[in-house]
Parts: sequence; structure tokens; C-alpha cells
Amino acid sequence: MAKDLQKLLRRMTLVEKIGQLSMLSGDFTATGPTLSPDFRDAVRAGRAGSLLNLWGREAVLEVQRLAVEETRLGIPLVFGFDVLHGHRTIFPIPLAEAGSFDPMLWELTARRSAAEATADGISLTFAPMLDVARDPRWGRIAESPGEDPWLAAAYATAKVRGFQGDDLASPDSLPATAKHFGAYGAVLAGREYASVEVSERTLHEVHLPAFVAAVQAGVAAVMPALTDLGGVPATAHAPLLRRELRRNQGFDGVIVSDHSAVSDLLAHGVAGDLAEAAALALRAGVDIDMMGRAYERGLPLALERGLVTEREIDAAVRRVLRWKQRLGLFEDPYRGLSAAPAQSVGHLDRALAREAARRSMVLLKNDGDLLPLSASARRVAVIGPLAAAGGELLGPWWAAGDRASAVSYRDGLAEGLPDREIRHAAGCAIGGDGGNGDASGFAEAVALARWSDVAVLCLGEAAELSGEAASRADPGLPGLQRDLAEAVIATGTPTLLVLTSGRPLIEPAILSRAPAVMAAWFPGIEGGAALADLVSGQAAPSGRLAVSWPADRGQIPVFFGQRPTGRPAPGDGGRYVSRYLDRPSTPLYPFGHGMGYTRFALDTLTVTVDTLGPDQDLGVSVGVTNTGRRAGQETVLLFLHDPVASSARPLLELRGFQRIELQPGERGTVRFTLPPAAFELLDHRLRPAREPGRVEIMVGPAADRDRLLSTWIELQPA
Ligand code: BGC
Repeated sequence: MAKDLQKLLRRMTLVEKIGQLSMLSGDFTATGPTLSPDFRDAVRAGRAGSLLNLWGREAVLEVQRLAVEETRLGIPLVFGFDVLHGHRTIFPIPLAEAGSFDPMLWELTARRSAAEATADGISLTFAPMLDVARDPRWGRIAESPGEDPWLAAAYATAKVRGFQGDDLASPDSLPATAKHFGAYGAVLAGREYASVEVSERTLHEVHLPAFVAAVQAGVAAVMPALTDLGGVPATAHAPLLRRELRRNQGFDGVIVSDHSAVSDLLAHGVAGDLAEAAALALRAGVDIDMMGRAYERGLPLALERGLVTEREIDAAVRRVLRWKQRLGLFEDPYRGLSAAPAQSVGHLDRALAREAARRSMVLLKNDGDLLPLSASARRVAVIGPLAAAGGELLGPWWAAGDRASAVSYRDGLAEGLPDREIRHAAGCAIGGDGGNGDASGFAEAVALARWSDVAVLCLGEAAELSGEAASRADPGLPGLQRDLAEAVIATGTPTLLVLTSGRPLIEPAILSRAPAVMAAWFPGIEGGAALADLVSGQAAPSGRLAVSWPADRGQIPVFFGQRPTGRPAPGDGGRYVSRYLDRPSTPLYPFGHGMGYTRFALDTLTVTVDTLGPDQDLGVSVGVTNTGRRAGQETVLLFLHDPVASSARPLLELRGFQRIELQPGERGTVRFTLPPAAFELLDHRLRPAREPGRVEIMVGPAADRDRLLSTWIELQPA
């Protein structure tokens, strides 16, 4: 630590030290974010080292000035905010954007978010959220990059790079927080904040790789999960935070607790009072207590009782001060804000939002090539409670976004299809927490469907049914929407079902009856315009599923990376094999599924060598031909399977993806390079190892064995 920080630490009182470890929250009022008088006093007294939820140039300048000019030591504050999928320009939710399989896009949207958030004074985002999620009942699956650890790791790298840029101290760098460490996505039965029970192997193979990638990319902070892991809350989990994160992964940034997670240790049943809670968290390695005020109240008592030492407190304070130095705050506490505001503050990047939304929507089915709409479809009925509800399209985290800035499907289609007659009926309420309404709008909706040549049926979830604290035991269409769907489809009018949601909605009957289905997720402010681009054929859909779409609630969790069983079920039938008697075991749509407006065929899978030495890269290539009549983009996934290893390997392990753009009739080649690490697995001590033997290499459009080309290589011993 620089000498002057050491000096600073020596001058600090206990209250000031604990202040650096405490994060307080701003309030949102009618005039925008503000800080309560109590918290202003806390800042002046040096009892706060960081704030969350306070943003906006003027507010941040003013409160930072309090910290710098009116406190005894003048230590600047860090301003944190949940900039998950956009700050003012709200992009598609992470689950959707992950399905673009495009690291450049992930990075670009994060870069844009960083520019907007830093212009609003934010110096820390609580993102990227990196919880591998395989359970659509869990509302936070919306915030996650989906079910696969390798995809999540690639996403982590791109997001950290996009948010932070090259230099954390640069005024437009947005220091990032990898959250929630670890395995929050595995909450029991998908119920929010419930306990987590995963094996050490699954923790390391599935839930931690994205965090390893974020740490390698230099992420500034890590947030432990609100949940416990096998009985020990992550916030108090010394082996997880100190041994795994700090020692094994080499993380040297700051660990920020989740909201009130330190005081939650009481309810978790591992601490008897705030002193014990504070001591447990600090000793586990949590540097900053977000909004729990547990460090403020508990640490002095813990010190008195000998539960912590002042040295331990100093170590955390030292990390926080060093971190503030890396963020450039001692050089310029205002991080460039004191200069005249850039003209562009408040300006939205609609073009990028539209592209991201277009690239994230997934065409699940398109019977009879209903899409793109033919010229003969003159009369278009836009039906459903999500049709005109633009604000809902922002999804669960809208940061400083303005719900009124969103383009609804109805408005987007009206603008994008100017030569058609567009009429709209809601049909029913969205349904959910606020009540389900009644069926009095059905008759109008059905009449409109009958009138039209094509119906665009916009159903799904309100934003509040998704995200944090939004677990659903029945993750299907809420309220009366199922009935509305039945009634509209029953008219026989060709229907495009547009699903807005933060999760795969489990509605097998409706999905089988609607001829075309587009998973639009929560697409962000340009959702309506992007839908129009795709429906009109201005652009072709290219989004893919970053999560398997279950065929039935009883299958949850269903994901492609399952391990083999001792009793595999080759077909649909048979007894004493691993299957359900009453339902298929496979999802309705696999990971990677997503249609475009053309067809592709893969041929000639080749590998550069048949026997691979321990330090060698493997080159893999495959031919791709556009066999349809339109230009389009194909995403090719590469999987491995090691059929005989010291522990059973997942049936498919993702190790690569590539996109290729081809004109009708054109053939191209997609190439992958797999480094030696791609073939590592964890040995019985959970250390990376290379085990010799045969490995299957597969490529194709989705995690569906029937659609994959395959070849074999032999791994030589290390
Ligand atoms: C969430 C975090 C979030 C924090 C601050 C918590 O309830 O779990 O993901 O960063 O609140 O808003």
C-alpha cells in the first residue's frame, strides 16, 4: 500500500474505519434520487464509505463534496448502482442477450452502459450477474447468462471488459462487481433466497468458472450470494471467500456484501446478534457491509468481546482504501464530473438497443413460414396485455431508464409495417400479483383476430413477475392469458405468439398450437421496433436459447450438461431406465435452439490432428451451407464428451461457438481453436487435470445430439 494510505489509516478513528466498510443507500423520490438527512449526517461524520442508489451528476457532485470537504479526512465515496442491462438506454435482459452468442455485442452494451452510468456519477456497478441458472421458477434466471458455465465465463469476460475498459481510474470506466458468489442459481426448488445444496464438484465445474473468468479479467469487486451453501451463508463462508476467491483465484479487489446480507446472518441461524454477524462476515473476508448497518453497530461490540481484532478491521479498511486509489478517487474524487457535462448525457443509444434486441429474440417455431409476414397479410391484429405495455419491456432492472422511453410492440409494428392496417386489443390484464382481472375483453380480442389476416398475440410476464424475489411455482402465462391464447388461436387466424418474459414460460399446449412463436424476453427500450424488423423481414432472427426450454414443470431442472446415468434410456420406452413414465426427459427446445428465415446444412467436420499432445491446440473446422432462399446467420456450437474418465463427464460440454453470415447457396467454413485447457477436467481432488483417452468432438446448431456432427480424437498423456 502506498505510504500515504498507510499514514491515512493510522490517523483514522475506529468509527471512521468502520465507516469505510459501510455502504448506505440513497432514496428515490419524486424529484429523483436523494440522500436522507440522517445519511447526510453519516457521510459528514465519516460513517459511510460508499453509497448505493444515488445517481445523477448534481446529486453525486453534492454528496461527494460533503465527503471530500466536510469530513475530517476527506476520503471520497464510491457510488454503486445496479446497472445490469443498461443505465439509461435499457438493453435486453442478460438471459436474452446471452443468446446472441456474441461477445462483441455483450461488450458493446456494457461499454455504453458504462459511459452513461459514469456520466451520472456512478463508480461501481453491481454487475455482471454470473449465476448459472437452470430453474425457470427462479425469477433471477432473467439476470443470468443462462444454464451453461462455459458460456457464462465468456459472458463474464466480455462484460467486465465492457464495463471497466482498460483502466479502472479512467472517468468512463465503470468498476464491476461479479455476483453472486456462489451457486445462488441453485436455490432449492427455485424458491428465492432458499438454501443451496450442491456438491463441491458441481460448485467448481458449474457455478465458479464464470467468477474465475471475471477475476482473470480484473473485476473490481465480488458480491457473495444472499444464500447459504450447505448450511454456511456465503457472507460468512471463509473457505469460499478467503480460500477459494482470494487465495486460489487470486482476487485482490473488494468483497461487498449483498443488501443487508450481514444482518441476515441472524435469520440464517448462524449468528446470535449483530456483533456475531459482523465478526463472522469480516472474518470470512467481507470488506463492505451493504446497507445492513451491521458493521456499524456490530463491529465495535465484536471488538470489545474479542470476536475480531483491530488488525482484521484494518486489513479490510486497507483493501478499501487501496481500491479507492485504483479507482482514481484520490486523484479526482469527481471522476471527471466537475468538468462541464457532456452534451450526450441523457441521450439514448437507440440503434444499439434495437440491434441488441433484434439479436436476442429467439424464433422458437415458424410453421408454414408464417414469418416474415407475406405481402398478403394486410390486416394485422396486435392482441394481448403486453402489446401496448412498452414500460414492461424494460424488465426487472431498469436502473436510470425511463419506462416511457420504450417502444411497445403495437407502436413498433405500426411504425415498421406502414403499409398494413394495424389494430389493437388488450384482451385481458397481464395478471399476477396485482390481480388477474376478468374476461370482459375477450370478445373484442376474438373479433379482432377474426377480422385480421394475421394475429400477433403478445403475452407474457409483467416486469415485476421476474427478477429478484419473483420466484414462480407455475412459470407459465399468468392470469387469464392462457384462456385468451386458446380463444385467439381457436379463431383459426394464423397467429404469431410473442412471449415477453424473464424465463422460459412453460406452456407446452399453447406453444404447440400457435404456428409461430417468438421468445422476445424483456427486450429493452427498442423491443417493439426490433420485433417489427424481424416480423417484416427487414432483419432475420438469429437469437438462440441460452437456457433449455422445459416441456413440463416436472422436468425442472432440465439442462444439456447432465451427467450420464448407469441406466441410460435410449428411446422413449423401457422400464428400469432413467426416464419419466408420463413425460419425455428432453426439453421442448434445447439450449442453442433458434430459427432464422433460411436453412443451413453442416458438412465435413475435420480436426487438425487425431492424436493431441498435451501442449497442442486442436483446430476444428466444419463446412456450413445456406441451403435456403434468404441471407442469414448461423451459430455453430462446439461440444466435447469424454466417455471414460475418473469422474463421469457431462454428456455434452460446451467449448466454443462461432457465428457465420451466408448468402443463399453460399458455403463457408467455421473454425475453432481449442487450447489445451479446453480438455482439462477436475481430478478427484478437484484440481485441473488432463486424462488421456478418446474424446468426442461435436458441432451443430443446438445441444441436441441428433443434430450434431461428431468425430473423435485421442488425448495423449500430459
Ligand atoms: C440484490 C443484489 C443487488 C442489491 C443492491 C440485492 O437485493 O440481491 O443483486 O445488487 O440488492 O440493489
